[in-house]
Amino acid sequence: MTIPDEVVDAVRGARRVLVLSGAGMSAESGVPTFRDAQTGLWEEFDPSQLATAEAFRLDPPFVWAWYAWRMQLVRGVEPNDGHRALAELAGLREVTISTQNVDDLHERAGSAVAAHLHGSIFALRCSDCETPYDGDVDLPAEPTERIDPPTCPQCEGDVRPGVVWFGEVLPDDAVAATEAAIEALEPGDVVLVIGTSGIVYPAAGYPAMARAEGATVVEVNPVDTEISDMCHHVVRGTAAQVLPELVAALQ
Ligand code: APR
Ligand code: ZN
Repeated sequence: MTIPDEVVDAVRGARRVLVLSGAGMSAESGVPTFRDAQTGLWEEFDPSQLATAEAFRLDPPFVWAWYAWRMQLVRGVEPNDGHRALAELAGLREVTISTQNVDDLHERAGSAVAAHLHGSIFALRCSDCETPYDGDVDLPAEPTERIDPPTCPQCEGDVRPGVVWFGEVLPDDAVAATEAAIEALEPGDVVLVIGTSGIVYPAAGYPAMARAEGATVVEVNPVDTEISDMCHHVVRGTAAQVLPELVAALQ
């Protein structure tokens, strides 16, 4: 994997690095992405049947079983070399991470995460009274069709995953932290847009906002995306290939 010199030079000269990561960041840990051809989850499942509050209201055991399996899957995998490289980068530059991912792999690799734009799969809460739920959760050993969600101890409502479903608003604090990090960017700073198809807004709009602040925008993705054209540089490789090499080049 050869990283263009201008990308290494840009990161070498940056004081701040803003990381905007998507599902591709966790792909090499074994967590499926959503839109990759053949392997993407939305190739296999209909998001409107799984990733909306209406879907959960209509059939809580079906939707809960799908997310319980993904919780189990995330628990069973490890951060990859890309996650670890970003944690190492934080020792060399001021790094801020804003992720669309609902897993905890950045954190488990040792990174601080400023924003989980689409929530966290482990942040369970009552779907009625919103009370956070930290009670017992039986996770399936295998994907399964239906599991009754836990019941809220306050109101007997169905407990749901703390992810942002289509049509729901993003967490204020995550949006505020991301926009503050973008506004703090200065010319010469670098934005690494890693493993996102650049389709889902507002996250997909952040690279352009960062470019408008004068930052150098670098895409790390094996393929072209909706946002490739507005990046200053594109590195056609995977997170676990590119990021360790990029960090090694800074040493
Ligand atoms: N390294 C880097 N990028 C990768 C890798 C990898 N190993 N493998 C795949 N990719 C890229 C794909 O080429 C694709 O561009 O990661 C991107 C994944 O795109 P999506 O599956 O659309 O994931 P993402 O952009 O994060 O989706 C945004 O959509 O369904 C919602 O809430 C969900 O947060 C998600 C949002
Ligand atoms: Zn409740």
